[in-house]
Order: sequence, then structure tokens, then C-alpha cells
Amino acid sequence: MTKSNNAPIGFFDSGVGGVTVYEQVKKLLPDENYIYFGDTKNMPYGEKTETELLGFADKIFKFLELKNAKAVVMACNTTSAVVYEKLKNNYNYEIYPIIQSVAKAIAELPVKRIGVFATHATINTHCYKREIQKHNPDMEVFEIACPGWVKIVENGDENTQEARISVKEKMDEMLKNKPEKIILGCTHYPYLLNVLSEFAPKEIFINPSVEFAKIIKKDLESKGLISNNGSQKFEKFYVSKSPENFQKAASMFYKINELPELAEL
Ligand code: DGL
Repeated sequence: MTKSNNAPIGFFDSGVGGVTVYEQVKKLLPDENYIYFGDTKNMPYGEKTETELLGFADKIFKFLELKNAKAVVMACNTTSAVVYEKLKNNYNYEIYPIIQSVAKAIAELPVKRIGVFATHATINTHCYKREIQKHNPDMEVFEIACPGWVKIVENGDENTQEARISVKEKMDEMLKNKPEKIILGCTHYPYLLNVLSEFAPKEIFINPSVEFAKIIKKDLESKGLISNNGSQKFEKFYVSKSPENFQKAASMFYKINELPELAEL
């Protein structure tokens, strides 16, 4: 695999969730070129079948291959859980799946009981539990699916009564397990942090993107893939539906200056 250092790093998610990863990575690696694909037409991924997810992810991976990506960040827990293992050897760049990348760091936290909020599809695979317990079999992992949260975020409805009721219901269920930490195991969920922290201290929630960004930087450095052309950098966002909506919803985490380009794969 020979790639130019100045080839872009690709990102993908079903929508604005991956922006919570993107802004962390961009903070650590400001001189890279970036391409982001948000599959807004097919969200929410958490309610899709494995066959559907394989189809969406393969098209996006191929799109990013045509854009000459040197690495692709799966800024989406659902596809990391459901399709990563099946597709990981099919493309000509490095692939970083969020769950498998951060599991070791989570397993090393000084806690015994940990909760995970994630999509239906992610929870059905038990990927978080399996990956964490590979490194720390004694950690108890409580997994709860939160259908509906992704759409709330994509619609910018974080401050509505609907959001509050749904978050309260899931928090009540989660807190019965007495978790010491709660992983936001879907990249959309950090948008709900204000509502979530009405029901527990903010410090209990873990946004895995923070650790994920450090891991990506370290790995790119170790492979000699860091950009060496700071002055020429670019970023480009693509979405499969509703670019204005995407730009607006993402703005809680990142200001996208140019309207994303519509790309139907
Ligand atoms: N943000 C993605 C994740 O981390 C996908 C959520 C969805 O579209 O359901 O799982």
C-alpha cells in the first residue's frame, strides 16, 4: 500500500454523529486533508439489517477509495460493530473502527461496572462487551439500546420534551445497574450530553472519540503517514441527503463553512 502523505483521511457515519470524532481528530492533526461522508439518506443505521449496512458501507468505502484516501475512520459504532470484520481487508487504505480501537483504553479504566448506550444494531452484536472483556474479563458491561436518539440529533431536537422523556427513560434503566461510567457508544450521543447530564454528573459519561483521536494520530505517525504539506490543506463534506440540515445539526460540534456536496452513491 503506497499512499502519498498528503492524500486525505476519510471519515464516514450515517450523519452528523461522526463530526464528534472529526473535530477531535482535526484538533490533533490540523494539517491533514479531510473528506467526510454522511449517509443522511440511509440513517438511522442502528435500525438497519446487516445486509443493508454491508451495502451502504461498501459503497462509501469505495467512494473514499476513488477519492484516494490514505486512511478511513469509521466514525460510526454501528458499522464498526456490524460490518468491520467482514469488509476490513477489501480496500487499499488503513481502516480505523471506533469500538475495536478504543476498547483497550476503556478496559483499563479503574472501574468495575460500565454502561454502554448505543444503537439497536450495535447492542445486538455485543461488540462493546466482547471487545472490553477481551482485555478485562472482570469488567461488568451493561448494554442498553436507545432507538430514536439518532433522529432527535439529526433533526436538531436535543432540547425538546421528546428528547428529555426518552433520555430519562434510558437513564432510569441504566442507573439501576449502578454503573461507574457510561460510554456514549454512538457518535450521535455526545450531542445529547446536556440532557443526559440532567440525570447524572457529566463526568460519568465517556465520549470515546477523545481516546479514538489519540489512537488514530499515534498509528498514522507510526506508519509514517502524517501530512507534510500544511499550507495546502483542504476539507470536504459530502452527504447523501439534506446538506443544509447536516450543516446546521453539525454546528454544535463543528462549523462547516462550505455547504456539503450532495452525493448519491
Ligand atoms: N452514529 C452512528 C453510530 O455511532 C450511527 C447511528 C445511526 O445512524 O443509527 O452508531
